[in-house]
Amino acid sequence: MKQGGLILAVETSCDETSIALVEDGRRIHSNVIASQVAMHAAAGGIVPEVAARAHLRWIVPVLDEAWATGGASWDDVAAVAVTQGPGLAGSLLVGINFAKTLAYVHGKPLVPVNHLEGHLYAAWLEDDAREVAEPIFPLVALIVSGGHTFLVEMRDHLQYRLLGETVDDAAGEAFDKVGRLLGLPYPGGPEIMRVAAGATGHDVIFPRAWLGDSFDFSFSGLKTAARRTIASESGEGNGHGTVPLPSDRVAELASGFQESVVDVLVTKTLRAARATGARSIVLGGGVAANRVLRDRLADAARGAGIPLIVPKPGLCTDNGAMVGAAGARRGQAGVLAGLDLDARPSMPLAHR
Ligand code: KG4
Ligand code: ZN
Repeated sequence: MKQGGLILAVETSCDETSIALVEDGRRIHSNVIASQVAMHAAAGGIVPEVAARAHLRWIVPVLDEAWATGGASWDDVAAVAVTQGPGLAGSLLVGINFAKTLAYVHGKPLVPVNHLEGHLYAAWLEDDAREVAEPIFPLVALIVSGGHTFLVEMRDHLQYRLLGETVDDAAGEAFDKVGRLLGLPYPGGPEIMRVAAGATGHDVIFPRAWLGDSFDFSFSGLKTAARRTIASESGEGNGHGTVPLPSDRVAELASGFQESVVDVLVTKTLRAARATGARSIVLGGGVAANRVLRDRLADAARGAGIPLIVPKPGLCTDNGAMVGAAGARRGQAGVLAGLDLDARPSMPLAHR
């Protein structure tokens, strides 16, 4: 891959169709995102076939918009990067075949990117609105998304050692499920954050799964505890039918749930950072858009004297720029794919 130049990055692993133009893995020239959230909200969750068809519908207009806002042309492009996995098979296939075709007809190298690596490399993206420090190795990264929750150690670029991961639900999945139990719209994560901010009482204490000294996470017990509390307070099983909870109670329960998730995530991340001698901490993935998690981890990291790097919320949720950031590193390292590149819906990032 030729040095310098732009990476044209394609992300379609879940329910966001996104194409970005990124320079040197850091500078965003354009980052166009067509979100399907409103479309899936009606069904209360993502319907994979519907998602894949929407990617097909939007991918060309999204590319047109990326050129228009990026003010660039194919001459400026060094490589095409695309998310290979993990994600929904049909959704991934749309992006992969689109990226392959672009790479072939324009004679550009094709760089396969792991979606989770993208979430991690979002920490290297520049932010026009504020000064962002570059992550320093060795670092510990907490990646919290709708499908994954793990802690990883990086001693250098593209080198990952898994410290811990969820043994059941991902953090975002727990937010979405509890959001549904509370009668909030899909996706539950942003909704829980919104209603919890209005909670006046803070007496709801849900359990925390510490799992001993391990860096693994578990959120299914918390979800069950939330389900039981919500069921009993709404009168389930009392023979008189259920009643919706008053909105101030929904806010208190949402806040109690959010506190439990954030407490475990922050405590384990700090412990992992200390145990590995990390010189910086990175936070990424859709749940990293959560204000309480961001603030609490920032306080804890400051207390420990370790710099924390968190992308702005719009770069924490799925986007093409993060794929461009990871793609630049991978391309420089010579990780290229042929036209036989296939989707890997369960692609792993790291091993213990
Ligand atoms: O990384 P992402 O955009 O897609 C995946 O790769 O999964 O993450 C989506 C997840 C969803 O579960 C969503 O509810 C959660 O991130 N999320 C949030 C917030 N914004 C998005 N969770 C808590 N607070 C938020 N503000
Ligand atoms: Zn994601």
